[in-house]
Amino acid sequence: MKILVLHGPNLNLLGTREPDKYGTFTLKEINDELNELAKELNVTIETYQSNIEGELVDKIQQAKNNFDGIVFNPAAYTHTSVALRDVLLAVELPCAEVHLSNLHKREEFRLKSMTAPACVGQICGFGKNSYMLGLRAIVNYLRNN
Ligand code: DQA
Repeated sequence: MKILVLHGPNLNLLGTREPDKYGTFTLKEINDELNELAKELNVTIETYQSNIEGELVDKIQQAKNNFDGIVFNPAAYTHTSVALRDVLLAVELPCAEVHLSNLHKREEFRLKSMTAPACVGQICGFGKNSYMLGLRAIVNYLRNN
């Protein structure tokens, strides 16, 4: 089973970016932990970060024939991107949307996710563990569907 893990804009800055909201761990630390978990779950993952909406769209289009599912933190594009919602619907790959912070405790504009309706479900508020829970959730979903 192959899972694509996608990180959206500004997540490359984790470690120094608003640590009160996002923690002090780096994106590399998240990816390392995901790789450990993938081994434990007996699945293969590829991780990819981009600040560019169109690159994320391309990556999801290309995933159609190469991956079984997606774990996705669309970051700020969560709240704005019709293009990312449409491509998730187009490729029909099961996706777990994940967020480090609890969107429901933050500004009102973060309550709206354009992408979540195109996903199996959303996990938010558990820091980097949101990604681990997302990977477990999508693997479990794929094994049962
Ligand atoms: C985020 C939440 C988004 O609202 C924000 O724009 C981010 C990070 C999170 O992981 O908590 O960049 O996706």
